[in-house]
Amino acid sequence: MKKQINIGILGLGTIGSGTYSVLNSHKSDYVKRVGAKIAIKKIAVKSLNKKRLVKVPKSLLTTDVLSIVNNPEIDVVVELMGGINPAKDLILKALKNKKHVVTANKELLANYGKQIFDTAAKNDVDIYFEASVGGGIPIIRPLKRELAANRIIKVMGIVNGTTNYILTKMADEGSFFEQALSEAQAKGYAEANPKADVDGYDAAAKIAILASIAFNSRVVANQVFTEGIRAIKPQDIEYARDMNHVIKLIALAKENKEGLDVRVHPTMIPVSHPLAAVSDVYNAIFVEGDAVGEVMFFGQGAGGKPTASAVVGDIIDIAGNIIDGRTGKMKCTCYNKKQVMPVGQIISSYYLRMKVADKPGVLAKIARVFGDKQVSIGSVIQKGHGGKLADLVFITHQTKEKNLRAALMLINSLDEVSKTNNVIRVEG
Ligand code: NDP
Ligand code: HSE
Repeated sequence: MKKQINIGILGLGTIGSGTYSVLNSHKSDYVKRVGAKIAIKKIAVKSLNKKRLVKVPKSLLTTDVLSIVNNPEIDVVVELMGGINPAKDLILKALKNKKHVVTANKELLANYGKQIFDTAAKNDVDIYFEASVGGGIPIIRPLKRELAANRIIKVMGIVNGTTNYILTKMADEGSFFEQALSEAQAKGYAEANPKADVDGYDAAAKIAILASIAFNSRVVANQVFTEGIRAIKPQDIEYARDMNHVIKLIALAKENKEGLDVRVHPTMIPVSHPLAAVSDVYNAIFVEGDAVGEVMFFGQGAGGKPTASAVVGDIIDIAGNIIDGRTGKMKCTCYNKKQVMPVGQIISSYYLRMKVADKPGVLAKIARVFGDKQVSIGSVIQKGHGGKLADLVFITHQTKEKNLRAALMLINSLDEVSKTNNVIRVEG
């Protein structure tokens, strides 16, 4: 029987450093749990001279990534580089070399999941990716295993720490967007290119992964309707507050008659909604199953140590499986082929903020267009007084998105309407 499981790590940035530190912190417990020692054989980095967040013996570092994925002594490759290339080629090579893989790379899995899982299955090795969604929050395993008895109805959550941090700072401290983003970058929450966080692509990749597991059907990142938080202005946050709502970047996936509704966008939710209280870098994911009802998973969704908790959990699981001779049990479950609905077909309520001429008859004109397009208004408030222009804030009843878009096109062409400044979907 093996006395030692050897791992090679690709990347020693925020998560690589956290993983190194967590792996070294409770070594003796891991030996008891796994039945063998877990030893780090090599760590690949881009630059050997960079200052590191952790103290690592120089002899462990290499810039030769192939010396890890082709090393016959290494049992598990832990990919913490991020991005598509060279991570994809390296993971595929490792799998073909019969190495198990642990990765936190949601971008890669949400775009090339099929190729990667097929390669793992063909080579009878495992790929674990608990850290790819929700940082330290256990969500992949619960969906695949503990909730397997359920038909999943809905998955909805806050899955991007950076944007939640920014929105929290803007709402609670009146921070400017740029200032809050810099703080999130300094804390290691944001991706190397923060566009992925701010424009919603990171959350889109994560909900694609969750939807694929929840609905047993492959959903890829570019099928997810995605809107980021750049358009959220202090007025929206203030008006939401006046209506007892908060604005969060919500990722959701649900199954309808027409197919899967999978999307990411800023969303207004009532302050009484459990997700409204999820602040800073915290993430939370609601899962609704037909047997279990609603369950919520909550915790730190980004950062070195919390994410390393999930990465090291995967390493321990795989190491134990190797020792017990039961690898290859966490199979891919995307056996269905379900359609993803076009966004025009979704049904939601909407918050609309528009700048209009402050004179008699304007509201009636706008209301007529909404009526003609089957959009029913729940409430309307005028904000701002005295000038020639005023803000009108509407909340619609549930309506088909394509009807709302058709109405807005006509409304924006009215002489009395200067601009629709923002459209935010309302949930709950
Ligand atoms: P970082 O940018 O902090 O670290 C990336 C590491 O990979 C660096 O050590 C870098 O080397 C190394 N690297 C990059 N390219 C190469 C290459 N071609 N050859 C060798 N080494 C390379 O990223 P993070 O740690 O933040 O993220 C890692 C992964 O974890 C990503 O997939 C990310 O999406 C995911 N993730 C991140 C979370 C977070 O909170 N940051 C949370 C959950 C998941 P060098 O240091 O020399 O530049
Ligand atoms: N940049 C990501 C976030 C890291 O802010 O949530 C966690 O995946």
